[in-house]
Amino acid sequence: MVAKSRRQLAKLALLVLVLFLLLAAILLCIFLLRHHHKAPPSPASPPGGNASNPDDSIVAFDFSPYLILYKSGRVQRLSGTSRVPPGVDEDTGVTSKDVVIDNSTGLAARMYLPPPPSGGKKKKDLEKLPVLAFFHGGAFVIESAFTPVYHDYLNAVAAKARVVAVSVEYRLAPEHRLPTAYEDSWQALNWVASKHSGSGSDPWLRDRGNLSRLFLAGDSAGANIAHNMAMRAGEEEGGGLAIAGVLLLDPYFWGKKPVPGETTDPATRREYETTWSFICDGRYGIDDPLVDPLSMPAAEWRRVAGSRVAVTVSGRDNFRPRGLAYAAALNGSGWGGEVEVYETAGEAHVYFLDKPRDPKSLKELAFVTGFLTRE
Ligand SMILES: *[C@@H]1O[C@H](CO)[C@@H](O)[C@H](O)[C@H]1NC(C)=O
Ligand SMILES: *[C@@H]1O[C@H](CO)[C@@H](O)[C@H](O)[C@H]1NC(C)=O
Ligand SMILES: *[C@@H]1O[C@H](CO)[C@@H](O)[C@H](O)[C@H]1NC(C)=O
Ligand SMILES: *[C@@H]1O[C@H](CO)[C@@H](O)[C@H](O)[C@H]1NC(C)=O
Repeated sequence: MVAKSRRQLAKLALLVLVLFLLLAAILLCIFLLRHHHKAPPSPASPPGGNASNPDDSIVAFDFSPYLILYKSGRVQRLSGTSRVPPGVDEDTGVTSKDVVIDNSTGLAARMYLPPPPSGGKKKKDLEKLPVLAFFHGGAFVIESAFTPVYHDYLNAVAAKARVVAVSVEYRLAPEHRLPTAYEDSWQALNWVASKHSGSGSDPWLRDRGNLSRLFLAGDSAGANIAHNMAMRAGEEEGGGLAIAGVLLLDPYFWGKKPVPGETTDPATRREYETTWSFICDGRYGIDDPLVDPLSMPAAEWRRVAGSRVAVTVSGRDNFRPRGLAYAAALNGSGWGGEVEVYETAGEAHVYFLDKPRDPKSLKELAFVTGFLTRE
């Protein structure tokens, strides 16, 4: 009798324990869920597919990790989609603003103006600053002048180099395949230089910019754009634009035949060729000078505008060998300007954007600002 009731008591105790544990688990779940909801919202998720349109879930081109294009035409960007507003940067005191360059296409730019130097000069005496036209990277398909990565980078460059910077918001593929990015960038560059400004030039450029010291710069695909703008500036009738220097950061160039040190893996080379073809809708081959300047004869190289070109390369970047080959070819072409190479060992493609506070990134930034401040 006693043994039986003891057993029942034990059962009851076990039941109570199980119920208690269950309750605790439920409470923990509720707590975790609420806590999770309080966390900052994750980056805007891409719009979902259209359930009533089967083509909306059929992948037409997988350009991971950048984007996926569906048969319906829907584009799902996998990164570089967040945006930050312009304003006054707390860290540097740099002021930024957005300007529309062409209402009909939406071509825009984010401009950066460094704070007056300390020492309290009168406004009239403010010195005129070099002007930097910057083209962001992102394989021609993602990122923006308005993403946090580029906003932070341009604030840092404008502050340290003391330049008026114009970060160009060119249109992206696949909605606008090449040559749109080149055409937009060329239009923006001419707007900067006030060549075809209908409504008067921008006050920051007019009052604070010294267009005799105009620099072009970009990273990755943006460096490809900067090079092609320098070529065009050197080709155009009437002397073109007065480009002082060109800065190519981990430039995106490729080609059919591997240069020394470049990957010979057929799958990788095929992939690079396929993605370039996607970006330009098959208009230009992988040997076209737009993507493979090494295919140009020496005489063409001499058209690169400016008197100084710097190329940066990163040790673990697939684009490193061709960046080095670019610098060597320009240097050996009889171009006549000064060619510099800045190499960072052991780092990946555009590492300085991904980890801006890293000592190597700060060192690279110092090289960039040194290039822009030197006479
Ligand atoms: C979804 O696709 C169908 C069929 O193509 C189309 O009629 C409809 O407008 C689409 N809906 C949305 C929200 O895009
Ligand atoms: C562009 O549109 C805005 C607003 O609609 C207008 O204020 C501005 O004057 C236009 N700019 C040009 C260059 O047409
Ligand atoms: C603009 O830059 C040129 C070339 O460095 C220089 O000679 C000129 O004095 C500068 N102008 C102003 C207003 O700072
Ligand atoms: C450019 O060529 C000169 C002379 O041939 C050489 O001394 C220099 O190291 C070269 N620079 C680069 C970056 O290749």
